[in-house]
Amino acid sequence: MKTTSDLKEKILELKKRKNVVILAHYYQEEAIQEIADFVGDSLELSRKASQVDADIIVFAGVYFMAETAKIVNPNKKVIVPDVKAGCSLADGCPPDEFKTFLENYPNHIVVTYINCTAEVKTLTDIVCTSSNAKKVITSIPDDQPIVFAPDKNLGKYLISETGREMVLWEGSCIVHEAFSLEKLIDLYKKHPTATIIAHPESERHILKVAHYIGSTSGMLNHVKNSSNDTFIVATEAGILHQMQLDNPTKILIPAPSKEDNTCACSECAFMKVNTLEKLYQCLKDESPEVKLNNEIIEKARIPIYKMLDLK
Ligand code: 13P
Ligand code: SF4
Repeated sequence: MKTTSDLKEKILELKKRKNVVILAHYYQEEAIQEIADFVGDSLELSRKASQVDADIIVFAGVYFMAETAKIVNPNKKVIVPDVKAGCSLADGCPPDEFKTFLENYPNHIVVTYINCTAEVKTLTDIVCTSSNAKKVITSIPDDQPIVFAPDKNLGKYLISETGREMVLWEGSCIVHEAFSLEKLIDLYKKHPTATIIAHPESERHILKVAHYIGSTSGMLNHVKNSSNDTFIVATEAGILHQMQLDNPTKILIPAPSKEDNTCACSECAFMKVNTLEKLYQCLKDESPEVKLNNEIIEKARIPIYKMLDLK
């Protein structure tokens, strides 16, 4: 069996020989974040993917993110450690059902959260991520009706923040819906000086008690810039690795989930199907590769670049 350091050494050697860039999301396991060339949230990763000059992109995240990297790099090889790295939001919005749904709203602008399939992006006017969602919604003229998909929780948050009415698709993130309000309040009573920070994919009642709401990078920046020393973190537990590195003396407490009484961690099982071993194997085999037909790439790149070009 190969040790973590054997694997890291082999990955670095293959990376150099094959001119590869490794992009990873903050929800990846620590060893993957450590070996990656760039770690970021969804927006930073899609921006970075649009700027790489390597021959091969290894995308350690979930499949819709690797698809986005392929859409902005149609001539590059994009490979993933495990094709089964799905996402409940992307899986909960099948393109054919979404297409039928949209027939009810012919005059609406379609805004989709980046957590959706490439095919759903072909039905979209503009994509957004949790970092820029407010900016995207406020860039749309006030009298223009909007359909927002697939995350109803992010959608409800955006309605309350912008005052814009939107038609919402009924999707959600299973990880961010797992937090327990009751347990969170009990935990806060034990740490009354803590700042509660939450990702906007969380449910309304969690967001109502949060002192700060933001994307993965937004939360990392908030903790770094805050003078407080204790934080209750309502998002995927992988973020704690970078947060603790940035803030070695601060106390970071994962928000408790509904189901689990023994461990407070909330982990995305999709993100965690990727392992260092699988990353090494995909680099060695140059497979599994993300393949999309040209028509999908051509259509899906329009709403992605509309987002990336938004000033
Ligand atoms: P961000 O990276 O935009 O914070 O989104 C989190 C997420 O759930 C990614 O799937
Ligand atoms: Fe999808 Fe939620 Fe996992 Fe992000 S955390 S990849 S939104 S299931």
